[in-house]
Amino acid sequence: MKLAILCSGRGSDLQSIIDSIQRGELQAEIEVVITDKPNVQALDRAAKAGIKNICVDRKNFSSREDFEKEILKNLSEIDLVILAGFMRILSPEFVKKFSGRLMNIHPSLLPSFPGAHAHRDVLAYGVKVSGCTVHFVDEGTDSGPIILQSAVEVLDDDTEETLSARVLEQEHKIYPQAIKLFVEGKLKIEGRKVKILN
Ligand code: GAR
Repeated sequence: MKLAILCSGRGSDLQSIIDSIQRGELQAEIEVVITDKPNVQALDRAAKAGIKNICVDRKNFSSREDFEKEILKNLSEIDLVILAGFMRILSPEFVKKFSGRLMNIHPSLLPSFPGAHAHRDVLAYGVKVSGCTVHFVDEGTDSGPIILQSAVEVLDDDTEETLSARVLEQEHKIYPQAIKLFVEGKLKIEGRKVKILN
């Protein structure tokens, strides 16, 4: 199974997937890592693991269509596209092309707190429990069918940094798990629901 991973920055979720493959837990190959920004840690992590890595700098493209066309050039052989901290909204056309084989991880318990500032929004609202969600991507924002979630307690003295660090520990567990389920053919999408087969 051939994976492509799209990132925008640090790439710790990417690293958790690389590590899971290297430990032999996940039987898949990362064909390419693509970032939308130059000089980000995700590119270094891919290079260090010997994975082809490409920056498709959004700043060099006047439209989202052209930007996505460039990304698509690298995805013709790919079975599963994984968004790992990729901070851009993909077009409905792109999403349709990879329907059922495009995954994202979001740092809250969806459908609560979608969007780009989940931890800030969680703390401002005052919820006692947050977490992370792996889901298939549909044409909405953070709205697709949910594959796995993990909950994390929100502490009174949490900051965005402390909460994010604890949520990331869970992200690094459930993202490789969700990908493994996909690779093993154990995920069945039925409307809004994702059934996990035995
Ligand atoms: C992760 O917390 C991921 O859930 C989040 O960005 C972070 C990326 O960290 N994604 C989103 O907020 C998507 N809306 P990383 O670059 O270290 O993997």
